[in-house]
Amino acid sequence: MRVIQFTAALGFVGTVFSQSSTVDSFIAAESPIAKAGLLANIGPSGSKSAGAKAGVVIASPSTVNPNYLYTWIRDSSLVFKTIIDQYTLGTDSSLRGQIDNFINAESIIQQVSNPSGTISTGGLGEPKFNIDETAFTGSWGRPQRDGPALRSTAMITFANWLLDNNNSTFVTNTLWPIIKLDLDYVANSWNQTSFDLWEEISSSSFFTTAVQHRSLREGSALATRIGQTSVVSGYNTQADNVLCFLQSYWNPSAGYVTANTGGGRSGKDSNTILASIHTWDIAAGCDAATFQPCSDKALSNLKVYVDSFRSIYPINSGIASTSAVATGRYPEDVYFNGNPWYLCTLAVAEQLYDALLTWNSVGSITVTSTSLPFFQQFSSSITAGTYASSTSTYSTLTAAIKTYADGFVAIVAKYTPSAGGLAEQFDKSSGAALSAADLTWSYASALTAFGARAGVITASWGAKGVKVPTTCAPNAGPTVTATFNVQATTQLGENIYITGSVGALQNWSPDNALLLSSANYPTWSLNVTLPASTSIEYKYIRKLYGQVTWESDPNNQVTTPASGGIVQNDTWR
Ligand code: NOJ
Ligand code: NOJ
Repeated sequence: MRVIQFTAALGFVGTVFSQSSTVDSFIAAESPIAKAGLLANIGPSGSKSAGAKAGVVIASPSTVNPNYLYTWIRDSSLVFKTIIDQYTLGTDSSLRGQIDNFINAESIIQQVSNPSGTISTGGLGEPKFNIDETAFTGSWGRPQRDGPALRSTAMITFANWLLDNNNSTFVTNTLWPIIKLDLDYVANSWNQTSFDLWEEISSSSFFTTAVQHRSLREGSALATRIGQTSVVSGYNTQADNVLCFLQSYWNPSAGYVTANTGGGRSGKDSNTILASIHTWDIAAGCDAATFQPCSDKALSNLKVYVDSFRSIYPINSGIASTSAVATGRYPEDVYFNGNPWYLCTLAVAEQLYDALLTWNSVGSITVTSTSLPFFQQFSSSITAGTYASSTSTYSTLTAAIKTYADGFVAIVAKYTPSAGGLAEQFDKSSGAALSAADLTWSYASALTAFGARAGVITASWGAKGVKVPTTCAPNAGPTVTATFNVQATTQLGENIYITGSVGALQNWSPDNALLLSSANYPTWSLNVTLPASTSIEYKYIRKLYGQVTWESDPNNQVTTPASGGIVQNDTWR
């Protein structure tokens, strides 16, 4: 309905329009609505955010079912990254006051003691605050460790622009102390358990890890640039560790990124699409180490993610298997009965537009065995290889992928109410707008997707040439404490050791097996840190003057919890 209104308004006649002109007219009409809708939700003078302090972004004006009249660090930081990009790329020079307000508001919120802790004891992981900058003290999924990373990324983008424009004093004196608090938090706690961006699962989460990696990488570069050299090697070390851990989310047999280490779901999740678009760096080309939008892994993942929604939403029924559909957070979602989200559907389009811009800059498309199923959607005869931009294969693929990307925007156009407001979700059966109205993040996601379609290239952050370390730091990822107790009588000179299937238990090496303490003989004991949410096998061994005796089969087995600790009480076999 809406599409026809727009096209009619633009002077087209008739009811059949090409998808591209449909999308063009939707974007022309929706862009100013999205921009105004976003600014309406920022205090102190936003028209829908009465009571919000200056620079505070409300998630939505909705106060019931759901009540989103709070400020989330994630939403606010993504919204202000959009604003800072618009300002620094010269799209809108009127936004400077908003940016100054945001910096001031976040510097206040950082210091507010809250249920996650104080500024020095973990309070930076608090996900949401009241809009008057006081702590929200109700129960909630906390901490959420993506917030400080996203906030520092927004501010680092602004800092780099200021340095380019000769304002190093403000960067060093005002911005850097705020940025450093967030980066220190990320560097110190990236491998601890966190609630995911959907505030439901406490484990490790791809989006969180990916944005943490980005923030440390660009944070270390900024520190170098302004002479704050004392933090550089620490941030670089942790950035390498985070990048190493990031690889572990990839599921090679199924060709997608598993979004969370816990939660017991398929792991197909918009989390991973959002990670790719918010860590896009055109200078990195199609590098898979950072899951760039055009990397083979990110494209394979996009297909698996999109396909997971084809059969579960009635509004997707009848749509060809190679055309765009409405997508949501993850297929198992039950929030408001589980529906498509505007920002998730737009994120798919944005990843594809980012990919198109990157292929254009690289001058070719490379198809690998990993990305083959993605490309086969657009050419059934395509084979692995590199196709230069001068080839007809390149032209065919890029045209088809542009059409496919536009399809996701067309879905959003179809289900946007005629006044243009963007809520959080749209109903999987009727397509009607649902849940929080005027979701600030929905508006930001529209602006960034439209920008990418129009060719906007955001600033690089240092993804180019990063190398995944050959061995990851021990205990990367969330850990739990474990106590192993085993009853074992021994003869003089004989000791009990443990080894098992993970690095923390020395990977089945009898030579490097860990010695247990005989302080409570005949109980031998060891405390050790183990990876969380992991199935682990192990055995005790005896060593008598270098002679090794293994426990009899089978292996002992334990699955560690997502957090906390375990005690294993065993008897030597
Ligand atoms: C509110 C959270 O914001 C949302 O992400 C979550 O799905 C629901 N609570 C249900 O847990
Ligand atoms: C629920 C979403 O799951 C979460 O990501 C978001 O931060 C809040 N709503 C506020 O928009």
